Amino acid sequence: MSLYTIFARIYQAAFKLVVPFFPWREPELLEGPGSVLGLPELLRRKGIGRLLVVTDRSIRQLGLMDPMLARLDEEKIAYAVYDGTVPNPTIGNIEEALSLYRERGCQAILAFGGGSPMDCAKGVGARVARPRKPVAAMKGLLKVGRRLPPFIAVPTTAGTGSEATLAAVISNPATHEKYAINDHALIPRFAVLDPELTLGLPPAITSTTGMDALTHAVEAFIGGSNFGGTERAAIEATRLIMENLVAVYRDGRDPAGRGRLLRASYLAGYAFTRAYVGYVHAIAHTLGGFYGVPHGLANSVILPHVLEYYGKPAWKRLALLARKSGAVKDGQDDEATARAFIDRIRSMNREMGIPARIDAIKEADVPLMVSRALAEANPLYPVPRILGRAEVSELYAIVGGARAAGAAGGRSEG
Ligand SMILES: NC(=O)c1ccc[n+]([C@@H]2O[C@H](COP(=O)([O-])OP(=O)(O)OC[C@H]3O[C@@H](n4cnc5c(N)ncnc54)[C@H](O)[C@@H]3O)[C@@H](O)[C@H]2O)c1
Ligand SMILES: [Fe+2]
Repeated sequence: MSLYTIFARIYQAAFKLVVPFFPWREPELLEGPGSVLGLPELLRRKGIGRLLVVTDRSIRQLGLMDPMLARLDEEKIAYAVYDGTVPNPTIGNIEEALSLYRERGCQAILAFGGGSPMDCAKGVGARVARPRKPVAAMKGLLKVGRRLPPFIAVPTTAGTGSEATLAAVISNPATHEKYAINDHALIPRFAVLDPELTLGLPPAITSTTGMDALTHAVEAFIGGSNFGGTERAAIEATRLIMENLVAVYRDGRDPAGRGRLLRASYLAGYAFTRAYVGYVHAIAHTLGGFYGVPHGLANSVILPHVLEYYGKPAWKRLALLARKSGAVKDGQDDEATARAFIDRIRSMNREMGIPARIDAIKEADVPLMVSRALAEANPLYPVPRILGRAEVSELYAIVGGARAAGAAGGRSEG
């Protein structure tokens, strides 16, 4: 074991001791078909008269918000809509939406959309709470530190789990950086899990966002910092995704299946926001920052490669997750069960038309992406095996197709 690995493990152990004492809370949930229509009345009861709604253009054009907006009118709640959020939301998005919040004298923020609008809205909330602190200065852990205005999250993808998490993932197009602001103040006060909003999700977004949620559950479960129900949440999320995702990808108009995926995404968000993610996310964030690869797509492709690369140090936990979630048949040893679980992920990807590689990766960018992935993951993420520069570079080569997958599988920690 290298000196760096020893340092990282001590750091993670210290964090594991203090993290349960952080001010964790869960959003109050409105759940079920049509539940979003209950939101305006709730807001009125809370005394909110002016609202900023943060979304993106296609959600607005699809008219997904219209029934809820009509109810806001009925409740005489004024609202301004910011619909400029781009996938991988930027600091510029946050500042534009913040100006609108101020111009209209808003009192609360409602995020309506996938992870991009939800994270953009969290950024707005953080800027309202800390008006003199630029977004970039809130990067990292616990830099907000003040209560946000009332914040409601309405996810329209079943993927990021941002409605349950303390994270807002923001991109800086000038530097290609993609980083997280992590603070308990960013956990939404209310979240709405309404499957009717996800019925029309195109198959390619259903599949990749669903695999993002699976990545949260798997990375959280195989990490070393589970506590307070995170294992249970990760197992249940894995079970729900394994049992429902491919079917819902094929036929999206099933509210029951959509509801199960929303539940899974929420549970996986609950798990990973307490127990962290791992190298899959660290690498995915760089591909989003450099090439705009959608987050879910990046994770879907990278997940099996990283799980295989971890090798033996991951087998025990992967096998446990596979057994407890019913993802693979029991009766084999840990190695065989873990490998069957990884194969199951690969075949789900294949069935849903998700490629095995990311073509966009340019060799010249790899050194900087490796530095950023390592800076995100080490020493914070309690991954099964701490990787160094050479190994993460090798992973980029595998994900990009320049090297055969599995070349390094089965190595021990080092
Ligand atoms: N905060 C967190 O905890 C967290 C966790 C994971 C990922 N993220 C971030 O979330 C972002 C990705 O979010 P995402 O995967 O939900 O994608 P997204 O929000 O970028 O949306 C993807 C596309 O789907 C469309 N869409 C969304 N809902 C739809 C619906 N119901 N019907 C039709 N089209 C719909 C959007 O308009 C958009 O074009 C990334 O920036 C990622 O880094 C955040
Ligand atoms: Fe994610």
